[in-house]
Amino acid sequence: MQSHIIQYLKFAPGFVSGEDISRELHMSRTAVWKHIEELRASGYEIEAVPHHGYRLVGIPDRLSSLEVQYRLGTKKFGGYLYHFNTIDSTMNEAFRLGTEGAAEGTVVVAETQTKGRGRMGRTWSSPKARGIYFSIILRPSCAPSAVSGLTLLAAVAVSEAMEKVSGLKALIKWPNDLLLEGKKVCGILTELRAETDRVSFVCLGVGINVNNTFSQLLPEATSLRIEKKEMVSRVELLQEILRSLERRYRAALKSGFSSVLNDWKARSATLNRKVRFTERGVSFEGTAFDVDSDGALLVRLEGGKVMKRVSGDILL
Ligand code: BTN
Repeated sequence: MQSHIIQYLKFAPGFVSGEDISRELHMSRTAVWKHIEELRASGYEIEAVPHHGYRLVGIPDRLSSLEVQYRLGTKKFGGYLYHFNTIDSTMNEAFRLGTEGAAEGTVVVAETQTKGRGRMGRTWSSPKARGIYFSIILRPSCAPSAVSGLTLLAAVAVSEAMEKVSGLKALIKWPNDLLLEGKKVCGILTELRAETDRVSFVCLGVGINVNNTFSQLLPEATSLRIEKKEMVSRVELLQEILRSLERRYRAALKSGFSSVLNDWKARSATLNRKVRFTERGVSFEGTAFDVDSDGALLVRLEGGKVMKRVSGDILL
């Protein structure tokens, strides 16, 4: 019901009386008043003037379902959205929900994480209400080995959405870090539950530095706000990511993950660059020249030999 009241207030050209709301939304005046109080408690600024009624003057900068699901327009992604002020990691909650059978497209999002995690055992710093920290449950009927394609797809979808909302084109550092001016702005983590040859579900975790200031970032990281020199709406960005992810995911289920490869390459910060990496304690250097349909990076070493890097990190 609160979402209906907010929609009603958002559309109203000025003040609306409690009587109008109660008539339009078929509830008592007391119920309207109660909902308005609850909305205020969750950060909505609603002015109340005797004989005029109510007017919405401020919307909280929160990634609540009330805001994110408003005019989202996806079929499934974000259809169920669990919003937390504080959580250990959205990955833990998404994994728990996935195990309980939560629907594909279910999203867990938090304003801050106390144990945000990154790839390869790293931590993900999650300052409150500055970034976007979410996990989404996917249930592709594919083999576990095909999931790396999903990670590439996610990087393309997030970069695309970021460009649409902020105008900034983030490049992808293999496998799935997004960079602006060579600094990390987003990281993506893929975890899955699988039987021997079939994926049961995937939790795709995305962390984006949106409105972080310099002091809230590591020296090798940046935020959209720093690069754009203005604040970026986290709600709009999350909505656009969910739309873009769903569109690309549906296309991939139809025609395979190779459909995103070209777009990944067009946004790549890695291809045709000198890269360095370590494998079993030995360090290699060469030129990254392609990714294959499994998402592996192909590197031509100085002697001409080609190496396939399936996972891990690289240095540009
Ligand atoms: C990386 O670059 O190492 C991946 C970082 C992924 C961070 C996100 S934030 C939302 C989700 N919850 C987590 O604990 N991690 C991912």
